[in-house]
Amino acid sequence: MVDLTTSYMGLRLKNPLVASASPLSHTLAGIKDLEKGGAGAIVLFSLFEEQIHHESALFEHLLTSGTQSFAESLDYFPSVNEYETLPEQYLALIAQAKASVNVPIIGSLNGMTHSGWIQYAKKIEQAGADALELNIFYIPDVTHSSAEIEQRYVDIVKTVKSVVSIPVALKLSPFFSSTGNLMQSLDNAGADGLVLFNRFYQPDFDIQTLTVNSTLHLSSNEEIRLPLLWIAMLHGKVKASLAATRGVETSVEVIKYLLAGANVVMTTSALLRHGADYLSVLLSGLEEWMLTRGYASVDEMRGVMSQQNVANPEAFERANYIRILEGFKE
Ligand SMILES: Cc1cc2nc3c(=O)[nH]c(=O)nc-3n(C[C@H](O)[C@H](O)[C@H](O)COP(=O)(O)O)c2cc1C
Repeated sequence: MVDLTTSYMGLRLKNPLVASASPLSHTLAGIKDLEKGGAGAIVLFSLFEEQIHHESALFEHLLTSGTQSFAESLDYFPSVNEYETLPEQYLALIAQAKASVNVPIIGSLNGMTHSGWIQYAKKIEQAGADALELNIFYIPDVTHSSAEIEQRYVDIVKTVKSVVSIPVALKLSPFFSSTGNLMQSLDNAGADGLVLFNRFYQPDFDIQTLTVNSTLHLSSNEEIRLPLLWIAMLHGKVKASLAATRGVETSVEVIKYLLAGANVVMTTSALLRHGADYLSVLLSGLEEWMLTRGYASVDEMRGVMSQQNVANPEAFERANYIRILEGFKE
């Protein structure tokens, strides 16, 4: 038997696999399935700033104008007439989930401004959520400097932390000029967790109809490299817990993320493809690998391949890139 328990933002989880925000948590039945499948914790789908403000006209405009203002879950917004009641339903779902399952329930808020939606952090806490994940998704226009944008992230963390006492994680995109430095600023501002990385909503063009195409693709394991790099770089350098999100297809990705230094590994695409029971397949793969390699606990294997622990830390640096280019053979 191996010890799969892990700690995430001060919460003790029975294992490091977390169901990330997705339509699988839209209903209580879905949440129960995720627990039955083996999730160590469940992040609920996001409540969007726009749903909270319910500015129907603006929202409708944003939806139809091909803007990139929202992350991939754009396609999964409820219809406009549904979302007037959605914030209240969301809070009720948290309360029901807390009464029905034993694993931690993490509420999720998705916003981009520094206004009214933040009050929902308090409401999510009052509804019983064990923690809160903030997905600050924002594509700045050309008038804003990097410093301004980064300050906005830091301010949101400080504001939310000042109104709730549950742990707060930030789900971020990798697109900052000094990603690691911003992570440290967010850590210093009080973020309890960093969820790396949000997938960006990137529209495509249909060249026959000349329309913007916003099809959502599920991830593949090729996508783990960027989060893997940053988790390996940040392990041991921030107080905040690290959560990996992106590209888990099999237990191999789960193992890699833990070796890089993740406290938890999140998954959505794999569960949408194979169902909530697939969590148990991922967990058995992890357990088997740990037994074969002689790891008694997840804590023991965490960070073994992080930049600070790996035998050749330059593998994460520019020098290695040059070596790879020089050694490339077709
Ligand atoms: C259909 C779908 C809906 C999603 N909804 C949300 C959401 O509401 N909030 C959020 O923060 N992330 C959302 N995500 C992103 C996932 O939580 C996850 O971070 C992303 O899919 C990368 O993980 P994966 O490679 O395991 O799929 C959604 C993803 C998908 C595919």
